[in-house]
Amino acid sequence: MERTFLAIKPDGVQRKLIGEIIKRFETKGFTLVGLKFMSVNRELAEQHYDVHKERPFFGNLVEFITSGPIIAMVWEGDGVVSAARKVIGATNPLTAEPGTIRGDYGANIGRNLIHGSDAIETAQREIALWFKDEELVNWQPTL
Ligand code: CMP
Repeated sequence: MERTFLAIKPDGVQRKLIGEIIKRFETKGFTLVGLKFMSVNRELAEQHYDVHKERPFFGNLVEFITSGPIIAMVWEGDGVVSAARKVIGATNPLTAEPGTIRGDYGANIGRNLIHGSDAIETAQREIALWFKDEELVNWQPTL
């Protein structure tokens, strides 16, 4: 079954949007298989954002994701990688559609509330980076 990595960033936690954000994926019908509330160290942040290391905003990305606690999650479901990106909305909250998380709650590209893996291969890499196998719960909802 397909899985994706999602992280509620420090702004989402500080603005008390954890419940609202998680609810959107639950009500959509995806299955939560991993969740932790944690601080992010510099090494993990740099590995996570490695693909952006040549970008001018790389330093800001690392500073921000390490600035306060985050919620790291793994969600499962058919087509969950691209569907979760639709629920999240465009990278820039100013252009994200209303009805998406970023469209409804964000106003700044550097403070866009949540990260979602952009492809199946990226999701596999990010899940392995953020979670140990034993931290993931293999289950299927029966209702
Ligand atoms: P995220 O999904 O975490 O992946 C990379 C992040 O880089 C992205 O969300 C944005 O928060 C951030 N980002 C992308 N473009 C810019 C930009 N031009 N300036 C600042 N941050 C950016």
